[in-house]
Amino acid sequence: MSNSMDRLLQEDLDKRRLQHLYRTRVRVDSACSDQLSVDGKLVHNFCSNDYLGLANNTVIANAFKKGIDDYGTGSGASHLISGHSKAHCDLEQQLAEFTGRPKALLFSSGYMANMGVIAALAGRGDTVLEDYVNHASLLDGGLLSRAKFQRYKHKNCIDLEAKLNASCSARKLVVTDGVFSMDGDVAPVVELANVCQNTNAWLMVDDAHGFGVLGNTGAGLVEELGLGVDQVPILMGTLGKAFGTYGAFVAGTETLIETLVQFSRSYIYTTAPPPAVAIATSASLELVKKEQWRRDKLKQLIVRFRAGAEQIGLSLMHSNTPIQPVLMESDTQLLETNNKLLECGFMVGAIRPPTVPKGTGRLRITLSASHSEQQVDALLDALDRC
Ligand SMILES: Cc1ncc(COP(=O)(O)O)c(C=O)c1O
Repeated sequence: MSNSMDRLLQEDLDKRRLQHLYRTRVRVDSACSDQLSVDGKLVHNFCSNDYLGLANNTVIANAFKKGIDDYGTGSGASHLISGHSKAHCDLEQQLAEFTGRPKALLFSSGYMANMGVIAALAGRGDTVLEDYVNHASLLDGGLLSRAKFQRYKHKNCIDLEAKLNASCSARKLVVTDGVFSMDGDVAPVVELANVCQNTNAWLMVDDAHGFGVLGNTGAGLVEELGLGVDQVPILMGTLGKAFGTYGAFVAGTETLIETLVQFSRSYIYTTAPPPAVAIATSASLELVKKEQWRRDKLKQLIVRFRAGAEQIGLSLMHSNTPIQPVLMESDTQLLETNNKLLECGFMVGAIRPPTVPKGTGRLRITLSASHSEQQVDALLDALDRC
């Protein structure tokens, strides 16, 4: 039995290898920071989502330790049994205030939040419309919901409006990444909000990569665009990227949050995150608000990288965010370049299908406030050589 299972599975693995799509895990032996220890060698880290350099911050780490002293290491139960602590309540309130929404709800991860929200809000007979290049967790949520699920052309409000007008569902949910995770470009959320208001659809924005980074105080894309709960009724953000801890949240009206508490299966049927993580995230939120220099520095590094990349003729995408993909001609070229960069001491993401559409494999370079100008220049130099 297990032999025949392994044989069948091995065929799939072999196929993936032949397609140059086989994935391997690099073992890191150090904390997340601007440099990582890999195979006994220090490499510059240009592939994390630690945009503000908070994943290994002493203030946050001390709050985490204090949280363990107060609450232990685990929550011990799901939120609806006995796992919901004061630490979780406090953080939810702080996140609601920060995003200018009446309420917020913590989830264990962004993946779980997206699956759980979409499947709780839409079901058979409803329609879910998503941007073509949305994150996998949003697409999976759409499929899980059993609603009629369609994708509209990337950032194309005309295509979206036509699809909404053609739908006779009573409930229509439109879902978009705020900052697209593999491209780094930003969704036209003002226009999307208008289309949704005109067609009586609900808009959900996943601001995983904008939260902490965009907006005057780091409250994300909705802050940058000045969009309240009426325009973006369902806002999702993650805490494992710019915030440097772990987990995610959804913010919106009291009715939305109560609906998720009652119906969101990935919220209900799982152990609540450790309270110490919530305490660490509260400390992180204070730093995100207070330390504007992190966002300023990040912006300068983005401008520096793009100017340098243009000079050496790299094929960049339209992104002004810390996600700076460099398109490659083929997946083999991508892997070769990636290996050469690693040999030169630079770790970047090598992103291939099915994460991105066929023929659009790319180096996914991510910048962080923890980088120095010299590191960015050295990366550009290495890219030029490789
Ligand atoms: C746009 C987007 N949404 C959601 C997620 C999932 O978040 P998490 O890592 O917290 O599960 C990611 C993470 O990679 C993402 O890029």
